[in-house]
Amino acid sequence: MKTSLDFRDARVVVTAGASGIGLTFARRFAAAGASVAICDVDAAAVEAARAEFPAAVTATADVTDEDQMTTFFDEVEQRWGGADIVIANAGTGGPAGVIEEQTLADWRACLAVNLDGAFLTCRWAARVLKRGGGGSLILMASSAGLHGYPHRSPYATSKWGVVGLMKTLAMELGPFGVRVNAICPGSVEGDRMDRVLANEAKATGLTEADLRSRYVAGVSLRSWVSADDVAEAALFLASPAGSKISGQAFSVDGHTHSLA
Ligand SMILES: NC(=O)c1ccc[n+]([C@@H]2O[C@H](COP(=O)([O-])OP(=O)(O)OC[C@H]3O[C@@H](n4cnc5c(N)ncnc54)[C@H](O)[C@@H]3O)[C@@H](O)[C@H]2O)c1
Repeated sequence: MKTSLDFRDARVVVTAGASGIGLTFARRFAAAGASVAICDVDAAAVEAARAEFPAAVTATADVTDEDQMTTFFDEVEQRWGGADIVIANAGTGGPAGVIEEQTLADWRACLAVNLDGAFLTCRWAARVLKRGGGGSLILMASSAGLHGYPHRSPYATSKWGVVGLMKTLAMELGPFGVRVNAICPGSVEGDRMDRVLANEAKATGLTEADLRSRYVAGVSLRSWVSADDVAEAALFLASPAGSKISGQAFSVDGHTHSLA
């Protein structure tokens, strides 16, 4: 039997899906035939996504805002009657700096997007996927959810939390046919890492070029990854090829051995 990446009957929800890796998820699942629903906090990016995916459910919503997310999820249920694949993708890089220089407000803001957002999305996903008799829930963690990450303590803490949430939900939802996994990307080429390198350069006094070489040195394949590399993993995990995979923190990072 051949592996099928045909998603023609699938309804896929992606949070923070209007740019970055989330937009690549939306594009790749839509290209494989899926219906997509996207929310994002950036209204202009949502407008552009609406133009690109005219049939999609789209909403300007902040994943930390329970009311806005409820409105988005209600619309998904009204339009589709359920969902098959949910990707809790939203995440923020948080501040860069040693812990003595972190503020409580920045710490909380990072944990709010990365953990409160994942909680609200997973709570809804659990209900609709169980009711539908099964499905695939994918959380976006990071290499920082598997390693220590100097100068990025809020981010690393939140992504370890995402892995803990994933492991727990895989146990809670497995008996209902819902598979729960996390994808742990390494450094992904794009705007986000450009911003991260600029912040880390300010915090450490190193140049962005030095930081880039340090990141590459901590990866066995000596490379960064692309958003498409990450989307390939999501397509695989959500497909029948991944039907016995649950509870896994799935690295797409060229084998990161150190983030120091
Ligand atoms: N880019 C990387 O190198 C990398 C590496 C590992 C893990 N990740 C994780 O992958 C996921 C996607 O990362 P990315 O690089 O595409 O991020 P990004 O910073 O490029 O942001 C993508 C989208 O998230 C939206 N967003 C931000 N805060 C939001 C909120 N509160 N509510 C709704 N939408 C919000 C933004 O408007 C944007 O459209 C995140 O969870 C991130 O932590 C990224």
